[in-house]
Amino acid sequence: MALYALGDLHLSFQANKPMEAFGRVWKNHERKIEKYVRRAVKPEDTLVLTGDHSWGRKLSECREDLAFIEALPGRKVLLRGNHDMFWDAKKTARLNEEYAGRLFFMQNNFAVYKDYALVGTKGYTFEGPFYLDRWGNLTGWDEEKEKQAKKLVAREMARLRDSFEQARKAGFRKYIMFLHYPPTNILEETSPFTEIAREYGASAVVYSHCHGERRFGDSIRGEFQGIRYMLVSGDYLDFQPALVLS
Ligand SMILES: [Fe+2]
Repeated sequence: MALYALGDLHLSFQANKPMEAFGRVWKNHERKIEKYVRRAVKPEDTLVLTGDHSWGRKLSECREDLAFIEALPGRKVLLRGNHDMFWDAKKTARLNEEYAGRLFFMQNNFAVYKDYALVGTKGYTFEGPFYLDRWGNLTGWDEEKEKQAKKLVAREMARLRDSFEQARKAGFRKYIMFLHYPPTNILEETSPFTEIAREYGASAVVYSHCHGERRFGDSIRGEFQGIRYMLVSGDYLDFQPALVLS
């Protein structure tokens, strides 16, 4: 039994969104997803998909993308990404009812893997605009946007704490924390997300959202404060699911 993660599948079986425009790594990326997930993930394994599943803007435009995910091996746990317009956070229970036994939508709830609770939320992080001088040094940023970002971080933190607390009350003491957004931005060393991971003693923090080589190093990768941080963006991994726990 193993736990895998992969993010940002950006499927578009029903939407006209050729992903090749974003670089060679995206060429026929859905075929790579199928090939690599089938190669690694066994039926008894768990695969957490860390958001940005589909380009569809409502559920009816995402059905084929969700069916593609459903057909992959293993138990699938889905997290909300910033592009997942089909998924209203407040209507998660309805999605879980409809896809019961086929897909699990993680939002204000948690999943179980061995003696670990899998907790998570979309997260949020301030992404600029940042202002650079002609040598590429940071000279400032949009402070209004930064203020708005703080509100979104607070909302996401409340959702994440709810997920942790539900797991804790159910008796769990070991956690893997999932986010769609990176836990920190390029200005931060720590954030409310790294703090909560420390507070609950999470074993790992798994996130995606960063695309393209220039963004892969935006946040924490590897060991930090005794916690393993993993970037699992599809294009970062060439769409090979990352092993989180075995
Ligand atoms: Fe994203």
